[in-house]
Amino acid sequence: MIGLGCDHGGYELKNLIKAYLTDHNIECMDYGTYSNESCDYPIFAKAVAKAVASGECDRGILICGTGIGMCITANKTAGIRAALCHDVFSAKATREHNDSNILCMGARVIGPGPALEIVRAFLETDFSNDIRHIRRIKMIED
Ligand code: RB5
Repeated sequence: MIGLGCDHGGYELKNLIKAYLTDHNIECMDYGTYSNESCDYPIFAKAVAKAVASGECDRGILICGTGIGMCITANKTAGIRAALCHDVFSAKATREHNDSNILCMGARVIGPGPALEIVRAFLETDFSNDIRHIRRIKMIED
């Protein structure tokens, strides 16, 4: 289950991602926002972070104007490793090295085509399970 969240700046891109996931038979839960009306991104970042940290969702995707506010907020929740990615290389690397569980993107930074490629890379890439990466993630948690 993939948890989706956005603010007004990310609303349209979130809907595109939702359609992409549905087309690919990937289950998702939409935690809002549900319109273009101006709203506060921490509400939605916290909702998705909580869902991922509790196990209700396997991973999350958060979209705002830049992705930055979402990323800062989501990383305040214990157990969350949110990564801001605007290229496929970073999306793959953060899965392999950081075992990131939330992808953040900025709808004012990238277009829909690259964004969907990044989503695909993030969801299809497994954690490397390398001992050095496990050690470093444990150091973050400690
Ligand atoms: C909203 O205008 C904007 O600040 C927000 O979408 C995001 O970019 C914050 O980091």
